[in-house]
Amino acid sequence: MAKTILITGANGNLGTAVVKKFLDEDYKVIGVDHSGSHLGFASTHPQFELHAVNLADEAASDTFVKEAISLYKKIDGALLLAGGFAMGDIAATDGTALRKMFSLNFETAYYLARPLFQHMMESGYGRIVLVGARPAIQSEAGKNLIAYALSKSLLIKLADLLNEAAKGKNVVVSVIAPSTIDTPVNRADMPKADFSKWVAPAQIAEVLEFICSGKGDSLRGPLYKIYGDA
Ligand SMILES: NC(=O)c1ccc[n+]([C@@H]2O[C@H](COP(=O)([O-])OP(=O)(O)OC[C@H]3O[C@@H](n4cnc5c(N)ncnc54)[C@H](OP(=O)(O)O)[C@@H]3O)[C@@H](O)[C@H]2O)c1
Repeated sequence: MAKTILITGANGNLGTAVVKKFLDEDYKVIGVDHSGSHLGFASTHPQFELHAVNLADEAASDTFVKEAISLYKKIDGALLLAGGFAMGDIAATDGTALRKMFSLNFETAYYLARPLFQHMMESGYGRIVLVGARPAIQSEAGKNLIAYALSKSLLIKLADLLNEAAKGKNVVVSVIAPSTIDTPVNRADMPKADFSKWVAPAQIAEVLEFICSGKGDSLRGPLYKIYGDA
C-alpha cells in the first residue's frame, strides 16, 4: 500500500518540487500550505489533497493532524518544510523579529511534530523531517542572521530530543540543512551569484524520498547537509 506523507510548505519553492517527486513515486500526499493556493500540476491528482492551515496556530494544527489520522489511520511520514528567512545581526534583531522567526520556523514545525510524533510512536513507524539551515550549524554563516539561525537551531535540537525519546522504536526524526536553494526568489535577490553552486529543489526532494522510501531505514538521527557546491 502507498505510504501516506504529509508535506507542509507544499506550495513553496521547495515544497512544489517535493510534492511532485512524491506523487511521481506513487505516495499518497497530504499537502499543507497557509493560503490554500492551487498547485496546478497536482490539483486533480487522485493521490493528492491540499489543506490550508495556519501552522502557527497550535489548536488549528492539532485539529488538522487528528482529522488526518482519523481519515488515513496511519501517517507514515511528515516533511515539515514550512518556514522562512530573515536577515539581521543582533543590533537589528529585537524581540519582535525574534518571535517572528521563532513562529515561522519553529512553531509551524513543532505544532505538527507534536501530535504526529505521538501517533508514530503508537503505530511503531514514522519518519519526520525538519528543515534546518547552514547558519544554524556554522556560526560564521549565522552571525548576521541571528533570529533565523536561532530558530533553525532549535529544530536541530528538537530532532535530537525526539530521537532520544524514540530510541528502540522505528521512529526517526531527520534534519535536512540545505545551503542556498536555487529558487526564483534567491536568483532575484542575488543576481550575481553562481547559481550552479546552489542546490536544486529536485535534489532535496530526492533526499527526502530516500528518507521515506525505506532505503535509509537503518539510519538514526541523521543530519543531511545538502550544500551542493556552495
Ligand atoms: N530558500 C532557501 O534558500 C532555503 C535555504 C535553507 C533552508 N530553507 C528552508 O526551506 C524551507 C522551504 O523554503 P522555500 O524557499 O521553499 O520557502 P517558500 O517558498 O517561502 O515557502 C514557504 C512555505 O511555508 C508556508 N507557510 C509559511 N507560514 C505558514 C503558516 N503559518 N502556516 C502554514 N504554512 C505556512 C507557505 O505557505 P503560503 O505560501 O500559503 O503562505 C509556503 O508554502 C523553509 O523552511 C526554509 O526556511 C530555505
